[in-house]
Amino acid sequence: MIVIKTMDEIMKMKKAGEILAACHKEIAKMIKPGITTMEIDTFAEKFIRDHGATPEQKGYHGYPFATCASVNDVICHGFPSKEMVLKDGDIVTIDMVVNLNGWLADSAWSYGVGELEPKTQKLLDVTKDSLYKGIEQAIIGNRIGDISNAIQKYAEAEGFSVVRDFIGHGIGSKMHEEPQVPHYGPAGRGTRLKEGMVITIEPMLNVGKYHAKIDEDGWTARTVDGSLSAQYEHTLAITVDGPLLITDQS
Ligand code: MF3
Ligand code: CO
Repeated sequence: MIVIKTMDEIMKMKKAGEILAACHKEIAKMIKPGITTMEIDTFAEKFIRDHGATPEQKGYHGYPFATCASVNDVICHGFPSKEMVLKDGDIVTIDMVVNLNGWLADSAWSYGVGELEPKTQKLLDVTKDSLYKGIEQAIIGNRIGDISNAIQKYAEAEGFSVVRDFIGHGIGSKMHEEPQVPHYGPAGRGTRLKEGMVITIEPMLNVGKYHAKIDEDGWTARTVDGSLSAQYEHTLAITVDGPLLITDQS
């Protein structure tokens, strides 16, 4: 069942999204060679709590941290660690869900550390652009498959692969609601988009093959071939005026 949100509820989610977007903008300034992913996690948890909200990921199905911090070949759900010292040329994706008064917002962002190789920078640029290709399709009357296909077509034309095992989702007072939002697949298929739906679009692109494997910790997802992976995620509402970004950073 897809839970349709009122404009009032969407505005409550937008308040959560504003805290999340502000947190990402602070993290962007912190990321430098020498910082650990645990320092970023500690900062994010404090930032969220200082704004009267809570980090929804902490404790979610036993997940132990406020953020996921996924470095280089880690696709998603990497554990923050004080041993993970970021170095020049690395990429790291920070994923967070903010709960403000019971309403959620979800956004992941990839960051380059210091100077990146051109191919790595291209992975970040294409992954972010693929998110916006998907968002463009998030209009009343289109189908989920139109979002999926726009992302896949663009990503593959640029020479990257699209992860299959992790997808976007409906979101509201729960982190994961219907519908599912894959980032690959045919256009013109799937659920038709209606006013008041709120979803995430969160493409993960790999330099090599799309296949993923999970570490012994039961969470950390990596590329099977060891290639780099990036991710950008927004939460957005379907409205009569087009997609409304809940987690907009501008
Ligand atoms: N934010 C993630 C998503 O996009 C969820 C991470 S799993 C968690 O769905 F356990 F860390 F919460
Ligand atoms: Co999500």
